[in-house]
Amino acid sequence: KKPVIIDTDPGIDDAVALGIALYSEELDVRLVTTVNGNVNLDKVTYNMLRLMKFFDKQVPIAKGAATPLIVDPVDASDIHGETGMDGYDFEEPDNGLLLDEHAVTAMRREILTSDEPVTLVPIGPLTNIALLFRTYPEVKQNIKEIIMMGGSTGRGNSSVMAEFNIYADPEAAKIVFASGVPIAMAGLDVGLKALVYPEDSEILKDMNKTGNMIYHLFKKYRGGSFNHGLKMYDSCAVAYLLKPELFEVTNCFVDVELNGALTKGTTVVDLKGKMNRQPNVNVCIDIDAKEFKKWFMESIQKCI
Ligand code: BDR
Ligand code: CA
Repeated sequence: KKPVIIDTDPGIDDAVALGIALYSEELDVRLVTTVNGNVNLDKVTYNMLRLMKFFDKQVPIAKGAATPLIVDPVDASDIHGETGMDGYDFEEPDNGLLLDEHAVTAMRREILTSDEPVTLVPIGPLTNIALLFRTYPEVKQNIKEIIMMGGSTGRGNSSVMAEFNIYADPEAAKIVFASGVPIAMAGLDVGLKALVYPEDSEILKDMNKTGNMIYHLFKKYRGGSFNHGLKMYDSCAVAYLLKPELFEVTNCFVDVELNGALTKGTTVVDLKGKMNRQPNVNVCIDIDAKEFKKWFMESIQKCI
C-alpha cells in the first residue's frame, strides 16, 4: 500500500476525494492535515473530524495554517456553503483523532519515520506544504511525489487567470513549485472535465451511505446548479495517484506569478519551453472524462 498524507480544506469536492482515498485498497492514508481555504481553519478542521467519523476510519488529523503566508484570506463559501460542507446532517464528531501537534510537525514525523517514501496529496491552498519545506527541508528526501489539485495552463476560476488553491496562497505555491520535489499538477485543465451530472447523482443517492451523503452535498454545491455538471476537482488528484493512465501529461517548468496586478496567483506553465528552465512538474493537460466517471462511480461504490 502506498503511504500518503492528504492536506485538505473540506470542502464538498474534498469530502468526496477523501472518501475515495480512505477506501482505496491501494492507499495507506497515514495522516490528514487541514488548512485554511474553502472556509476558515476551524470550520475545515471540524468538517474533517465529521468526515472521519462518517467514514468510520481512525486516521489522525492535524490542524495546520490558519492564514495564508502573506496575502489576506479569501474563501469559497459561495461554492461550498457557509459551513464549507453544507447539505448533509453529519453526526457530531469526537475529537479523539485530533492531534495536539501542528500539521507541519505531524507531517515531518510521519515522513521521517516512514520506511517507504511518502506521497503528499494537497487538495487545498499550499500553505502547510510551504511551511513544512521551509521549516524542515530534510523531509524532502523521503517524499516520493506531491500530487496536487491546483493551477491551470489556461484561465482561472478565482480570478481571470488564477485557480483557487494557488490564488488563495500564491507565495506558498511558489515555494512548493520551486522545492525540487517531484510534482504532479491536476489543475483546471482536467478538473473542468471531471464532471458529475444529475443522473449520476441519482445513482449515488441509493448506492451506499457515502453515495447518499455525497448526493446531499451535491444539492448545495455551487448553490445546487447542476445541469452543466459538478466539477470533481480534488478527486482528480486522487485519480492521478491511482490511475495515471486516465490523464495526458506533459513535463515542463511551472512557476507562480506574484507581481501581476491582474494576474497574481496564475500558474505560468511553460508548455513550449520558452523560459529554458528545467522542467519541475508533470502537468495534467487532459483527462479521459468517460473513464474518469467510470472510475469515480466504482470508487464511491467501494466506500462504506
Ligand atoms: C479547488 O478550489 C476548491 O474550492 C476546491 O475544493 C478545489 O480544491 C478548485 O479550484
Ligand atoms: Ca479543496
